[in-house]
Amino acid sequence: MLRWMLGLALALPHPLAAQDAARGAELYSRHCAVCHGIEATGRGPMAAVLTLAPTDLTALSAGNGGRFPTVRVVTRIDGRDPLASHGSPMPLFGQLYERQDTMIQAPDGMPILTSREIADLIAHLESLQR
Ligand code: HEC
Repeated sequence: MLRWMLGLALALPHPLAAQDAARGAELYSRHCAVCHGIEATGRGPMAAVLTLAPTDLTALSAGNGGRFPTVRVVTRIDGRDPLASHGSPMPLFGQLYERQDTMIQAPDGMPILTSREIADLIAHLESLQR
C-alpha cells in the first residue's frame, strides 16, 4: 500500500520543493525537542517519563547504512507508518501536518509527497546527521 502511494506520487505533476531547514529547526524545537532533546540525541526533558526512550535522531543515517531513511522518517512523523499507531509513546503529527502538497526526494531518488512542514523538518533532521 505504502509503495503504491509513493508510486502514485511519482505520477503527479509536483516539482521538487525547496526545503527550509531553518523553518524545520523552529518546528523541531516546538514539537519534538521536549522528547528528543534540543540536540536531537534523545535526551529531552520528557524522556525520563516515557516507557520507551526517544530515538537519537542524529544517528538515523548511521543506522541506515549511511543514507538518511527519508521514507521511514516522513511516514513515522505523519502517521502513515502503521507501526506508529501501535502503542508507541511517539505522538502522531498527521493532523498537524495534514496537507500533502509538497514533493521531496529520498537519497535514493524516490519522490515522496508530504506537507511543507514535514519537508522542512526533514531538511533540519538531515542537517543533524553525524
Ligand atoms: C512525547 C514524546 C515525543 C515527541 C514530542 C516526539 N517524539 Fe519522536 N519518538 C518518541 C519515542 C519515545 C520514539 C521511540 C519509540 C518509537 O519509535 O516508537 C520516537 C521515535 C521517533 C522516530 C523514529 C526513528 C526511527 O528510527 O525510525 C522519528 C523519526 C521521530 N521520533 C521523529 C520525531 C519528530 C520529527 C518529532 C516532532 C515533529 C517527534 N519525533 C516528536 C517520542 C517523541
